[in-house]
Amino acid sequence: MTQGWEMIVRDLGELHGDLLIYGGVYSNLHALRAFMDIAQGAKIPACNIICTGDIVAYCADPEACAQRVRAIGGPVLAGNCERNLANGDDDCGCGFDEDSACNLLSRAWYAHADAQTSVESKKWMATLPDRIVFSHHGKRYAVLHGAASDISRFIWPTTPDTVIAAEIEILTQQVGAVDIVLAGHTGLLMTRKIGSTIWHNSGAIGMPAHNGKPSTHYSVISQKGIINNTLSYDHHAAHRAMRGVGLTQGYDKTLLSGVWPSEDNLPVDMRVSNPDCEQKTAP
Ligand SMILES: [Fe+2]
Repeated sequence: MTQGWEMIVRDLGELHGDLLIYGGVYSNLHALRAFMDIAQGAKIPACNIICTGDIVAYCADPEACAQRVRAIGGPVLAGNCERNLANGDDDCGCGFDEDSACNLLSRAWYAHADAQTSVESKKWMATLPDRIVFSHHGKRYAVLHGAASDISRFIWPTTPDTVIAAEIEILTQQVGAVDIVLAGHTGLLMTRKIGSTIWHNSGAIGMPAHNGKPSTHYSVISQKGIINNTLSYDHHAAHRAMRGVGLTQGYDKTLLSGVWPSEDNLPVDMRVSNPDCEQKTAP
């Protein structure tokens, strides 16, 4: 563990029925509403709607999103954004290089999120767990945000097997052996099998996956396994909402274009600008 705090682990025991896995709401209230409509239409109980963190980030409505996610009443994991807002930190904690575009962009949205998120919501964020564990159809799951070694470490679709295997080993030391890891933080959908363990990231509902499409992602876990889903929502309204609060630095356009404002944070082999890059982001 590189975190300097005591880990909070929440054990949900055995879960029954289909699960909805979502994360990266990123203050996008329009996407969250659309996701909740799907959850209600599918009659998924709140206890089976699991959030992998980063409720608050780039978009217009941090406080409304925090309140809505809290009101759902389902299990919610702390993302680095929740941790840092609760701690009173002055940045998102992603560790971007000082001169990177991600760092410059994060100054605007983090300041907005920090100013708009209520003290009450920050207190709630401070109570969120660092790990969630549960069993479902004979498999043991653990939910983490970035990686087991660091809440803000990015595990990308192209991260080497050896790196992910080392993270699974650390996770095993923290919470015991698991069959399936559910992660967040990157905002990119991915499923990798490392040895006998599956590492799955449901992507983000609040920001496109840098694939040129405005739709976003979440997952369903049923008896048949993990099913990836796209979320279509009123991204034009979400874009207008961002511009309305002065968040015009780049992520507002991403909601329309599906393309991130910078590839600084992506590994080189995933950058679309790299001629050797295959499209490895979500379809
Ligand atoms: Fe994150």
